[in-house]
Amino acid sequence: MASITASVYTSHVPAIGAALDLGKSGDDYWKPLFAGYDTTKAWFKDNTPDVIFLVYNDHATAFSLDMIPTFAIGCAAEFKPADEGWGPRPVPVVKGHPELAAHIAQSVIQDDFDLTIVNRMDVDHGLTVPLSLVCGQVQQWPCPVIPFAVNVVQYPVPSGRRCFHLGRAIRKAVSLYDEPLKVQIWGTGGMSHQLQGPRAGLINRSWDNRFLDRLIAEPEKLADVPHMEYVQEAGSEGIELVMWLIARGAMSDRPPRVAHRFYHVPASNTAVGHLILENSQ
Ligand code: DHB
Ligand code: FE
Repeated sequence: MASITASVYTSHVPAIGAALDLGKSGDDYWKPLFAGYDTTKAWFKDNTPDVIFLVYNDHATAFSLDMIPTFAIGCAAEFKPADEGWGPRPVPVVKGHPELAAHIAQSVIQDDFDLTIVNRMDVDHGLTVPLSLVCGQVQQWPCPVIPFAVNVVQYPVPSGRRCFHLGRAIRKAVSLYDEPLKVQIWGTGGMSHQLQGPRAGLINRSWDNRFLDRLIAEPEKLADVPHMEYVQEAGSEGIELVMWLIARGAMSDRPPRVAHRFYHVPASNTAVGHLILENSQ
C-alpha cells in the first residue's frame, strides 16, 4: 500500500526561480532566503519520496479565462516548464506518474470531488519554483511529480474547508494504491502578498505566523477561515494559502513532527513561508 510520509509547504515567488537561474542566489538580497532552505535540501536528500503530489496554482499559463478548472490533476507522462514570457525556465522536464495519478483521479472523483483530468499541460513557476527550492539545481528532478492545479486566480475559488476535505480524499486514495510507494504531498503558494491595486505590497507577519501555528496544531479549525479573511488579512494573492490545506488534510490525524519551519520577508512582493511536516509511522 502507498502512504503519505510527509508534507512540504512553500511559497513559489517567480523571482526566486529567476534568482537561481541567473546565478544571483548568493546576492545579499537573496542569501537569507536561500539559507532558509539549506535544512530542507539536506532533509529532502534523506527523505526522497517515490512520488511528489504537488498542489499548486497555474497563473493563467496553461489555463486562461477560456477554461478555469477548480481542481485539475495532471495524468500525463511528462510536463514541460512553461514559457511565462521570458522563455521556459532552464529546469528539467517534470516526469509524471500516470498510474498513480489515474488511480487518485478514480478514487477522489468517486468520493465526490470533481477533478478535471489533464493529459497535456505546461507547468509554471507555481510548480517549478518549489521544486527548485527543495531539490536545488539538478539535471533531473529526483522523482516523478503529479501536478495538481487549484484555481485561486479567478473567483469563485474553493473554500479552505473543501480543500481540507479534498486532502482527506487524496490521503484515502493514496492508501488504497496497490504498490508500496512513499508519497509526499506539497502545498505551495502564499503567504501574504498582494500584487495589485492600492494595497499592493501588503505583508502581514502576525497573520502569517498564526496561520503556520494553526496549520500545525489545529488544521481542521483553520479550514473554517472564510476566503474573505485571506483576502483582507493576507492580500488578494494570499488566497493561494488554501492550497496548503489540501496537503495538510492529506496528513495523518495524529500530530505531525515539525521537521523545519522558516519565514522570511521580503522575496519580491511576498512573505515566504515554509514548513516540513512528517507523519509519524
Ligand atoms: C509574486 C508572487 C507570486 O505568488 C506570484 O505568483 C507572482 C509574483 C511576487 O511576489 O512577485
Ligand atoms: Fe502565485
